[in-house]
Amino acid sequence: NGIGGNAVGGPGGDTGDAGETNLLSMLIASRDPGSDLPALSDEELVDQAVTMYSAGTETTAGAVNWALFLATTHPAVLARLTAEVDSVLGGRTAGWDDLPQLTYTRQVLAEALRMYPPGWFLTRQTEQDAELGPYAIARGTVIAYSPYLISHLPDLYPDPERFDPDRWDAHGGQPQVPVTVFGGGARKCIGDEFSLIEGVLMLSSLLSHWHVDLHRRTLSSPRLPQLTLNPGPMPATLT
Ligand code: HEM
Repeated sequence: NGIGGNAVGGPGGDTGDAGETNLLSMLIASRDPGSDLPALSDEELVDQAVTMYSAGTETTAGAVNWALFLATTHPAVLARLTAEVDSVLGGRTAGWDDLPQLTYTRQVLAEALRMYPPGWFLTRQTEQDAELGPYAIARGTVIAYSPYLISHLPDLYPDPERFDPDRWDAHGGQPQVPVTVFGGGARKCIGDEFSLIEGVLMLSSLLSHWHVDLHRRTLSSPRLPQLTLNPGPMPATLT
């Protein structure tokens, strides 16, 4: 839930509760404009729900975990982050209205997304013959690219292994994010801004209430990336 605001305008009956504003009820209520029949079959509804659930949970959780890991292993960053959280929230849980003040928190999250983009490996299939730099690529070719590798290119991000949230200091302008972290084009992540908001709220609220003491301040063994890139279990004491 939390998509917010818009009532679902669909008719009642098997279209779901018209008073609900969650995504599933909106999808259930959607109608094909030509026939006024349900726009999605039951199977498509399940597929949509599974996609939203799988694309929306492990990714954001990974981003927040990386941010927490990186912040707690970089004391100067942690000090600045907790100073912002304490002054903006004063021990509260963060809400929508706090977002404009939580600028450094967003920078920390953006830099964690750069260093460890949860969507680390993406593919595309060419619709027509194409050229990419010196390469001729035939129609129908599957191309793989890695946001992880791109966000570690020194030309784009000098000293790429350095965790430096100040790369994302917008100086009062629009906040930024690493260039390929949400993909691009027609299949670009639909939850990009949503996940940044969610991540900033989660990270700041967590640090507002808890002191986080990681048991292991280095990751004990490299974890092979799975569908998403995430740090794996991070045992910690919360005080
Ligand atoms: C930090 C968190 C997130 C990251 C790093 C992330 C990253 C990505 C990436 C890289 C893609 C593939 C884009 C492409 O192939 O070009 C994608 C697709 C998608 N994401 Fe996210 N995502 C995040 C959070 C979310 C959230 C919170 C939601 C839902 C609320 C979501 C929903 C989706 C969906 C539905 C797609 C498939 C879009 C399509 O194929 O049309 N994502 N995401």
